[in-house]
Amino acid sequence: MRSEFQRPRGTQDILPPASYRMEQIRRIAIDTAAKFGYDLIETPIFEQTPVFLRVGESTDIVQHERYSFTDAGGVDLTLRPEGTAAIARAYVEHGMFNQPQPVRMCYYGPMFRRERPQALRYRQHTQFGAELYGSSQPEADAEIILLACDVVEQVGLKNPLIRLNSIGCSQCRPSYRKSLIEYYQGRHQELCEDCQTRIHTNPLRLLDCKIDVEIRQQAPDIQDYWCEDCRAHYQQLTTLLTEAGRQVIRDPFLVRGLDYYTRTVFEIGHPSLGNQTALFGGGRYDGLATTLDGPEVTPAVGFGMGIERILSAVEENFPLPLKRSVYVAHLPGFEDAAFVLAENLRQQGFSAESDLLHRSLKAQLRDANRRSTVVVIVGGKEWEQGQVAVKRLGESEQLTIHQDQLSEFLRQELTPNP
Ligand code: HAM
Repeated sequence: MRSEFQRPRGTQDILPPASYRMEQIRRIAIDTAAKFGYDLIETPIFEQTPVFLRVGESTDIVQHERYSFTDAGGVDLTLRPEGTAAIARAYVEHGMFNQPQPVRMCYYGPMFRRERPQALRYRQHTQFGAELYGSSQPEADAEIILLACDVVEQVGLKNPLIRLNSIGCSQCRPSYRKSLIEYYQGRHQELCEDCQTRIHTNPLRLLDCKIDVEIRQQAPDIQDYWCEDCRAHYQQLTTLLTEAGRQVIRDPFLVRGLDYYTRTVFEIGHPSLGNQTALFGGGRYDGLATTLDGPEVTPAVGFGMGIERILSAVEENFPLPLKRSVYVAHLPGFEDAAFVLAENLRQQGFSAESDLLHRSLKAQLRDANRRSTVVVIVGGKEWEQGQVAVKRLGESEQLTIHQDQLSEFLRQELTPNP
């Protein structure tokens, strides 16, 4: 039935069993991050708008994908489109730069971008992310990438291929930028409408245009412009990742859509998602916290991972925890007894449910078959004699046991085999 009340465009309701898979992925991600020493941090899902303006005024998520509103007190607020700026704000606000460095943090939660809805691109999506503050060494970049790869592997997506690039620093990027603009201006007529604007607003992003892919083939390559420090940083990072057993390729067109990056940028895809859809992406952003009133030098590196995309890539292969529960069915007239027994069992720690529709025993058993591992039947003279009937899912045999043996019986039936 189609009602006029629909979820907002570009959002989704995550129904069972996908909702349970998502919850498992969340746990795996947070546990894996803990293994690397990352602490969980939660920030509000909205911030004062200027926090996100620091992501870069020419980026899509700031320019035209923002969900911004003015609250009743006249404060300009924005639903977070990403986590990095919010974490940077928290790092500065709580004076974390005074703590022993590096500071390692991870986060999980919804992000909001008014994107054009398409497959795996939502207006509300969920990110797991990690940010490392206080080290400018390539080891920090490597650790972040290894953590992201580990999460991806823990959920069952093996051998991730890391696409890596360095977009240089304030020393070397300006001369690259100049050459890039010159090259693209020479081919101005051939460019798509967006790229004709990008030349002036954000020339590096000309390289990741999905339309002008032919033109970029002859574009200058940033690696020919890297300063010595950027080159050494990139080389050491690839060495570390390779020595740690990871597959890395350099992608000269990888520039990322956010303005705060310096040097390292990376992404990982998955064959099932097509080659334009990243499972996660990130990079180094040494200047962001400074623009949010942090110390002058605040090296940082991190990644964000799209949980809906992970969910789509793992699909049904991702095992769900086995549901082991009891269904307390009743004979006519024993509804109360079944209801109370189910509650007693829950109080003892079992997962138990009873019929709430006063259905026939046959209908209850059909329901139980769908939902539970063991059925307990309450009623008749067995009940009067302190007994219940029990039935294992999928078996026709029915046993009669004493009510005071029920817990022990269920414990044995419902405990997973080692
Ligand atoms: P991002 O590449 O914009 O980076 O997003 C990170 C990941 O979130 C993407 O790789 C993708 O998996 C997922 N994602 C982004 N937008 C959507 C969407 N509309 N629908 C579904 N999934 C989406 C950042 O957000 C940076 N904050 C990452 C970072 C952290 N850089 C440094 N630290």
